[in-house]
Amino acid sequence: MSAAKGRLLVIDGTDGSGKQTQTALLTARLQALGHPVKQLTFPTYSESSALIELYLSGQLGALGEVSPYAASTFYAVDRYASYRRDWGRDYEAGALVLTDRYVTANFIHQMSRLPRDRWEDYIAWLEELEYDRFGLPRPDAVFYLDLSPEASQRLLDHRYQGDPAKRDLHERDTAYLAACRETAQFAADRLGWHRIPCDRDGIIDPPEIIAARLEALARPYFPASEGEQKEGQARLKEQRI
Ligand SMILES: Nc1ncnc2c1ncn2[C@@H]1O[C@H](COP(=O)(O)OP(=O)(O)OP(=O)(O)O)[C@@H](O)[C@H]1O
Ligand SMILES: [Mg+2]
Repeated sequence: MSAAKGRLLVIDGTDGSGKQTQTALLTARLQALGHPVKQLTFPTYSESSALIELYLSGQLGALGEVSPYAASTFYAVDRYASYRRDWGRDYEAGALVLTDRYVTANFIHQMSRLPRDRWEDYIAWLEELEYDRFGLPRPDAVFYLDLSPEASQRLLDHRYQGDPAKRDLHERDTAYLAACRETAQFAADRLGWHRIPCDRDGIIDPPEIIAARLEALARPYFPASEGEQKEGQARLKEQRI
């Protein structure tokens, strides 16, 4: 894999945890600070997501019938295609990339379908597949939106106005959502993700409050501002003299 030249920040969390909302808010904040940012979301739901769509619509069988390893590869291939087609070149040229879900989503969703004693093995397998073999860049930082399953359910109910038929294979299964939170907590600790608490007693905090927590943790990963860059260059010059 070539040396990472850009910067890759990831926002992840369980279903309905506010990833899209927070990705949009952080993008707007970065842009306001004068940092151009390439915003991505996974899955892409483009041609390269065809197998994901078969899987999520239940056409490959019930959740328990589809190998988590097979499902992981559907998502991995979609990411690979998007990297090659859409953002790899920008990233290699130094762009700041902010993404709603990434390889991290497999650690939350697919790992949850394996027994606990397989998690370490799964982490090693997936990291090798996506980062080492496919050559996808490793994130500089992952921000994990930690939302309780009760608060997630409440948000999903609101989104689908209580119509369970509109939910996909993952969203329909409440035990699955709880299992995903467990793997997400495990992965966050094990892989050094930054945890952002999002609710209290099953009630989600307002988006702006969560965004402020996220920004505080993400700031060290922001590119240097123009002033900071000039300062750095001046300091370098001084040292040379
Ligand atoms: N802090 C918040 N307070 C109240 N509602 C919120 C908050 N954050 C997001 N929402 C709402 O909850 C729903 C899910 O949010 P969002 O789409 O950002 O989550 P997501 O993690 O991207 O979901 P998915 O896993 O389905 O992609 C949306 O209807 C959104 O408007
Ligand atoms: Mg989303």
